[in-house]
Amino acid sequence: MRVYLDNAATTPIAPEVAACMIPLLQNEFGNPSSSHYLGRQAKAIIENARRTISSKLNCLPSEIIFTSGGTEADNMTFHTAVRKLGVRHIITSPIEHHAVGHTAEFMKELYPDVLVSYVRLDDKGHVNLNHLEQLLAASTEKTLVSLMHANNEIGTLLPLKKVSELTRQYNALFHSDTVQTMGHYTFDLQDLDIDFITCAAHKFHGPKGIGFLYANRKNTIEPMIHGGAQERGFRGGTENLYGIAGLAKAMELAYEDVEGHQQHVQELKSFMMRELEEKIDGVYFIGDTIPERSLYTVLNVSFPKTSKAGMLLFTLDLKGVCASGGSACSSGAVKGSHVLEGINADGSRPNVRFSFSRYTTKEEIEFAVEQLVAIFEKTLI
Ligand SMILES: Cc1ncc(COP(=O)(O)O)c(C=O)c1O
Repeated sequence: MRVYLDNAATTPIAPEVAACMIPLLQNEFGNPSSSHYLGRQAKAIIENARRTISSKLNCLPSEIIFTSGGTEADNMTFHTAVRKLGVRHIITSPIEHHAVGHTAEFMKELYPDVLVSYVRLDDKGHVNLNHLEQLLAASTEKTLVSLMHANNEIGTLLPLKKVSELTRQYNALFHSDTVQTMGHYTFDLQDLDIDFITCAAHKFHGPKGIGFLYANRKNTIEPMIHGGAQERGFRGGTENLYGIAGLAKAMELAYEDVEGHQQHVQELKSFMMRELEEKIDGVYFIGDTIPERSLYTVLNVSFPKTSKAGMLLFTLDLKGVCASGGSACSSGAVKGSHVLEGINADGSRPNVRFSFSRYTTKEEIEFAVEQLVAIFEKTLI
């Protein structure tokens, strides 16, 4: 048996998404910029997809800019904020995905007058809102607040609405990396006042290499990729037609029954937590685990130190359980996680992130727990 519990890294493509993409791969080869029939047909597929996505998020189709995924959309936000919108102060957190953290640092390198401030966090990874307000109040420059909606390693959720209100009060721009929450929670962008959010289709059973930036119509975009006039001149390059169609289909499926998926996955997560606490001495969880404050697809577990501590992920893999230690996005190497460090978690204990999807079953969780129990029974010192 092989059990996949690494859905925060990526998810399997939904069969319906594949079924939507395959005939397009076979038949639709027109360049969306061509003015003939095949080009117009390809263009229509893209614009239909944009409408599907914008209707799910309650925004305008023109506020959706297709990108190669979450990383590019995050990068585009910073380029726009600094190069077009005059931002000279970035407020972020030490536990952002590298697509944000490294990009903020890069902006500072490119523009030495850009200041990057880090908001304080508690030991579960929650942003200290008082400190955020102090930073905003003391800011003398045009400011961008960039804080992720859910942390990809520990699942802690940001109260988006509260942060949005604070940023509005201090006239700052607000970007949230919603890569882990898009497709898993609903967004009403008429209600939530935010400037930029980002998406990667492969996190909710869509294809890899496609995503988008939502950019509130108040803000003009600075292109990062220069070339043709695709995406209204904001992102040059022939569009990823098949990916875009797959992304829209994945979005439709995700939002067909988002509450049902949430309930199913949350039950599995709670079940796994109970089982681990009951069956393995000294286990605890990192990040918030209260459902309203925690991404239901992610469970970060700190295991007791054992003689095989460093080999835990490898042993699990041999036993048929795919999971990850910290962020799998950076490399295959298991190195210290900047997220665990950012919340002062005990980095000397073995740590595994299990992450679930709507396709995960209770039998799979039982299998994973069985393997873990066997490992810890044998290796306790
Ligand atoms: C929170 C977060 N942001 C950004 C990304 C990058 O997305 P992509 O792989 O589509 O570039 C990831 C991927 O793991 C992520 O988890």
